Amino acid sequence: ITPESVARSFADAKIVPDVLDSFDPTGLLNVVYADNSTGAPVNLTSPGTHLTRQQTARRPQIFLTTNQTTFAEQTFVLAMIDPDAPTPQNTSLGQVRHFLAGGLQANGSLAEGAALVNNTPALSDYISPAPPAGSDPHRYILLLFVQPSSFSATASNLVNASTPILNFNLSRFVAETGLEGPIAGTYFLTGPDGNAT
Ligand SMILES: *[C@@H]1O[C@H](CO)[C@@H](O)[C@H](O)[C@H]1NC(C)=O
Ligand SMILES: *[C@@H]1O[C@H](CO)[C@@H](O)[C@H](O)[C@H]1NC(C)=O
Ligand SMILES: *[C@@H]1O[C@H](CO)[C@@H](O)[C@H](O)[C@H]1NC(C)=O
Ligand SMILES: *[C@@H]1O[C@H](CO)[C@@H](O)[C@H](O)[C@H]1NC(C)=O
Ligand SMILES: *[C@@H]1O[C@H](CO)[C@@H](O)[C@H](O)[C@H]1NC(C)=O
Ligand SMILES: *[C@@H]1O[C@H](CO)[C@@H](O)[C@H](O)[C@H]1NC(C)=O
Ligand SMILES: *[C@@H]1O[C@H](CO)[C@@H](O)[C@H](O)[C@H]1NC(C)=O
Repeated sequence: ITPESVARSFADAKIVPDVLDSFDPTGLLNVVYADNSTGAPVNLTSPGTHLTRQQTARRPQIFLTTNQTTFAEQTFVLAMIDPDAPTPQNTSLGQVRHFLAGGLQANGSLAEGAALVNNTPALSDYISPAPPAGSDPHRYILLLFVQPSSFSATASNLVNASTPILNFNLSRFVAETGLEGPIAGTYFLTGPDGNAT
């Protein structure tokens, strides 16, 4: 897996242009869930992997691997969105904002994959995938942006605990808060698993 191969998978999955106008990553985002029933690690190493609702029920750990040494000093924003709500054929409720957190910093060696740790509360806490019964699997897309110093002051006016998670517009949020990137990203697919309400 390279940043270039992730960019190709985003184009193949039509994340470009459905969600992003372009995607030119310089790092790799590794997403590690803990299975809801067993606690076993579930590594999303390959973009486009199918994960179950059990596997994705808990907030994941995020790791960044990059050769960009300047990113060691950066602060990042992570977004996770679903553009396929209520179904990939009818996206009238998309994008769904599943997670939005700023203040993430690398803890460890970025060349080997550093955990991104948070020093501030999430703007929008993690909400696990729950596509409706009968739906085809949805795309759940995780994107990492470089956070500008002005971010905290503007972001909480735009997104906070009372902001609806449906019909989110990530592009608009990125433009309004001056985020740079995305510099890394990945995605997975989750279907209703037969236990949706
Ligand atoms: C999953 O990812 C974590 C963090 O990068 C790593 O420590 C662990 O070895 C990985 N496990 C597998 C099975 O790849
Ligand atoms: C995850 O586990 C908790 C506690 O057992 C349970 O309440 C919840 O429904 C599970 N979530 C999913 C998506 O299965
Ligand atoms: C880092 O550089 C090495 C050597 O050029 C390359 O193989 C690797 O894919 C790069 N890693 C990333 C995450 O760009
Ligand atoms: C699309 O989904 C919305 C929200 O569930 C629903 O109100 C609408 O009727 C659906 N449209 C079609 C054409 O099925
Ligand atoms: C950073 O990593 C070290 C070593 O793994 C760990 O002890 C420490 O708690 C981590 N810091 C944060 C803020 O997670
Ligand atoms: C919370 O976000 C909404 C927009 O969703 C905004 O209208 C409101 O002013 C924000 N609240 C605070 C306390 O910033
Ligand atoms: C998001 O907002 C931008 C303007 O900032 C607009 O061009 C775009 O069509 C919107 N996307 C969606 C999915 O509504």
